[in-house]
Amino acid sequence: MTAAPARPDAARLDAVGMVRTARERVVARVREAEVVAAALSAGRNVVLEGPPGTGKTTLLRALADGTGVPLVLVEGNAELTPTRLVGHHDASRVLTEDYRPENFVPGPLTRAMTEGALLYVEEFNRVPEETMNVLLGVLSEREMHVPRYGRVPARPTFRLVAAMNPFDAVGTARISPALYDRSCRVAMGYQEEDAERAVVTTATGGPADLVAHAVRAVRITRDHAELRIGSSVRGAIDTVLIAGELAVVRGRDGVDDEVGEDAALAALTGKVTLADGVTRPVEHVVVDIWRRAGGELGKA
Ligand SMILES: Nc1ncnc2c1ncn2[C@@H]1O[C@H](COP(=O)(O)OP(=O)(O)OP(=O)(O)O)[C@@H](O)[C@H]1O
Ligand SMILES: [Mg+2]
Repeated sequence: MTAAPARPDAARLDAVGMVRTARERVVARVREAEVVAAALSAGRNVVLEGPPGTGKTTLLRALADGTGVPLVLVEGNAELTPTRLVGHHDASRVLTEDYRPENFVPGPLTRAMTEGALLYVEEFNRVPEETMNVLLGVLSEREMHVPRYGRVPARPTFRLVAAMNPFDAVGTARISPALYDRSCRVAMGYQEEDAERAVVTTATGGPADLVAHAVRAVRITRDHAELRIGSSVRGAIDTVLIAGELAVVRGRDGVDDEVGEDAALAALTGKVTLADGVTRPVEHVVVDIWRRAGGELGKA
């Protein structure tokens, strides 16, 4: 089957190349890579929804590299005004030269549109309403008009990918139905245990028993009565890296209980959030989880 061009002003992308690169650089996530690549190739925009540390940025980088289009990354937050996103005229040059296209400093949206890049907006739900409206206009028209600069058409490979964390207090409910209507949604949940072990091994090169212990511990944090928010795989990566260094600092042969616990405390206590009404310190909760994770491994 040969796909028809998605729309005349949105060129197809090399979806097969995107998936190939994702397979090389991303652990598992093949289904997600295929669906996101297909949606982008078809000229669609994508909302990636998943908790922190689930590989959204890693996947997007690999997909962008695989098709050879640039990736422009923007951190979404309350300070992302339309001016920051679109660009502004250099104030001092405007004083001497007046408003000219040459003294316009393009923001990430303008750059992405003119370079034909994937514009990746993280924490999209934190973006102010008026900035979202600018993006919605671009999604509909594939061009925008910038006052005193002119018309900015999107190159045919331009796409928007918006990432959102479903646990975010700001909530995905804020996202207007108009955005969802103009994009496709792909959920990125936590990965299976063996995939998480592979992610941590790749990131740290740590020994298998320590990697398994750390992954087990972060998985317990996500499902623990005393915690409202658990840790992503980043917590396991940090635990393994810190434990390795700490063993050296302390002149130990390997990672013993004390080293493991101290590493887990440093890596995990800031990444988890206590549930309402829990009065004991987060350190106690994390140590309990670390010990339980070790015990459960022993039994397995
Ligand atoms: N499937 C995966 N393959 C390879 N590495 C992964 C995978 N998932 C997570 N990682 C690793 O975990 C860490 C977090 O991943 P990443 O930054 O892509 O997550 P994210 O979903 O973008 O997080 P956030 O929502 O906080 O921006 C990185 O170090 C990344 O290399
Ligand atoms: Mg990210």
